[in-house]
Amino acid sequence: MKALVLAGGKGTRLRPLTHTSAKQLVPVANKPVLFYGLEAIRDAGITEVGIVVGATGEEVRAAVGDGSDFGLAVTYLPQDAPLGLAHCVLIAREFLADDPFVMYLGDNFLVGGITGLVEAFGRGRYDAQILLTPVAEPQYYGVAELGPRGEIQALQEKPEHPRSNLAIVGVYTFSPAVHDAVRAIKPSARGELEITDAIQWLVDNGYGVHSHLVSGYWKDTGRLQDILECNRIVLEAIEPDIAGTIDALSETSGRVVVEAGAVVENSVLRGPLVIGADTKIVSSYVGPFTSIGRGCELRNAEIEYSIVLDGSSVDGVSRIAHSLIGRNVQVSRAAGVANTHELMVGDHSRIQVKV
Ligand code: G1P
Repeated sequence: MKALVLAGGKGTRLRPLTHTSAKQLVPVANKPVLFYGLEAIRDAGITEVGIVVGATGEEVRAAVGDGSDFGLAVTYLPQDAPLGLAHCVLIAREFLADDPFVMYLGDNFLVGGITGLVEAFGRGRYDAQILLTPVAEPQYYGVAELGPRGEIQALQEKPEHPRSNLAIVGVYTFSPAVHDAVRAIKPSARGELEITDAIQWLVDNGYGVHSHLVSGYWKDTGRLQDILECNRIVLEAIEPDIAGTIDALSETSGRVVVEAGAVVENSVLRGPLVIGADTKIVSSYVGPFTSIGRGCELRNAEIEYSIVLDGSSVDGVSRIAHSLIGRNVQVSRAAGVANTHELMVGDHSRIQVKV
């Protein structure tokens, strides 16, 4: 069994972060979301992994390397243009050879791993296995319609009028039969070769396609609220660990991780939260479900339910919540007497100010 991990795509819904970084590398509890997937693949006993990369391939390579840190052997498969998930299978033909494989979308986050899925695939002798989960807004996903005995009747990619609330999770297992499917289908209305259409082709042509309902937690982390939710879930289970220093004037409660070299002075930390290595927190409040990256500085700041990436600072600004702050960002109080907001913000940023 091999794994095909998809780490291309533009990540338009996470701009401006994705102007400069891959969406799969956005950190959740200070670890890129992609790493959770790679660990799940390794834990399922798979070692040969092909990673499909696009325009952000350089960063993905820099972060994952040859995979040996994860106990994996990684082969990079460049995709020249984002032509769809089924197109990724086409270009991975040689790497995959005639082995069965798990296809894992690099921005998907699945609590509980994929070991059960991989084992069920081995036992079931299916040609494809998909995971389904009920969602509130199925129109944003691939959607499955099941028959009375749970058999798959129809699969549709992002239908305007979904016929069920069962979204297709971005983790699939395939036999080599899928190679015929991805060659047979035509691009969708959005100009992509959809994996959903390839699976429908397998159903239509009498191949064994099986679906499982996911009982645990799943998120496609393509949107801000999903990344923040994912961060919350991971932090809820984090092992407390104080490697940095917290002075006597500070107060901590709940699950708190302070990485090596981080310094906390005269501050309140209410977990679950993580403070990255070499970060300084001074006279500040860091509230639940917050991940502060490495080399950051918070002074006279209040923040909760947020993610701050490496090298950023917040100075004199209170009540930041539900926020995702990129790398090397400075958030500070405007000087002078005029009651104004002074902004220098990158393209596609979003600022919501309470006045
Ligand atoms: C892709 C698939 C979709 C699936 C989703 C899960 O959509 O096309 O069927 O439900 O992943 O994350 P994308 O997020 O690439 O638009």
